[in-house]
Amino acid sequence: MTPANAIRGGDFDYDTHGGGYAQRRRPDPRIEAMVHAALGDAKTVLNVGAGAGSYEPLDRRVIAIEPSAAMRAQRPPDRPAIIGFAEQLPLDDQSVDAAMAIYTVHQWADLDAGLAELRRVTRGPIVIMAGDADTFDRLWITDYAPELLSAEAKRTPSMAYLAERIGARSEILSVPVPFDCTDGFLEAFYGRPERMLEPQVRQAQSSWGFVDAGVEARFVEALSKDLASGRWDERYGHLRTQATFEGALRLVVGRP
Ligand SMILES: C[S@@+](CC[C@H](N)C(=O)[O-])C[C@H]1O[C@@H](n2cnc3c(N)ncnc32)[C@H](O)[C@@H]1O
Repeated sequence: MTPANAIRGGDFDYDTHGGGYAQRRRPDPRIEAMVHAALGDAKTVLNVGAGAGSYEPLDRRVIAIEPSAAMRAQRPPDRPAIIGFAEQLPLDDQSVDAAMAIYTVHQWADLDAGLAELRRVTRGPIVIMAGDADTFDRLWITDYAPELLSAEAKRTPSMAYLAERIGARSEILSVPVPFDCTDGFLEAFYGRPERMLEPQVRQAQSSWGFVDAGVEARFVEALSKDLASGRWDERYGHLRTQATFEGALRLVVGRP
């Protein structure tokens, strides 16, 4: 096995850029309900790449694993996380009822090893939340910063790939994003484009760290101009009154 200290903690440095993540990336209760339903009646739940604790079910026993010290420091004091990596889970075979991995698999240094570890330690469902790169073109942000979504697509495994590796019986569920989504991922602002002009909002979206600063500056300039001229509203204005949006967000649920 690879020694834990040889595994990278992802392709984004949360120890440098992760401060304030918890304030800006608050779990959305409607998306959370979907995650919790997918966990079934599990009493013990492993959360890998657990970050600050978003989407953890508070009514079950949660074992949280998180490599970044900056992320662990943002967790509630009564819900600490163990230092560890998906690729080498410090747990026995079949020792938890269910597992979850939320917005994290695209960062793992060795995806196959991490997915195999999840399956090894989990008796029941594994729930992965991730973006489906095949549908990134549904997001208007793609029109303003195509480089952003193509960089993201390079980091993102296909949903079928994930489904195949986490269970014999797997399903891929589309996650409807509510208009007033409290989380801060890219498509959370599908109908509130002005929010994407806030630097703090973009800071909590790791995708911007994978494109040149010029792309972000051009995005802000073009979006500001189109919002002022009404061009954004001409093209996408219908999204301002749309209650939910089915874009790229997916739950991949794998059962043994
Ligand atoms: C975008 S954050 C998501 C955090 C949390 N799951 C959430 O939904 O808010 C991705 C997390 O994956 C963690 N991560 C990166 N590489 C990892 C690995 N190899 N094993 C476990 N976690 C990893 C990062 O440190 C980071 O906390």
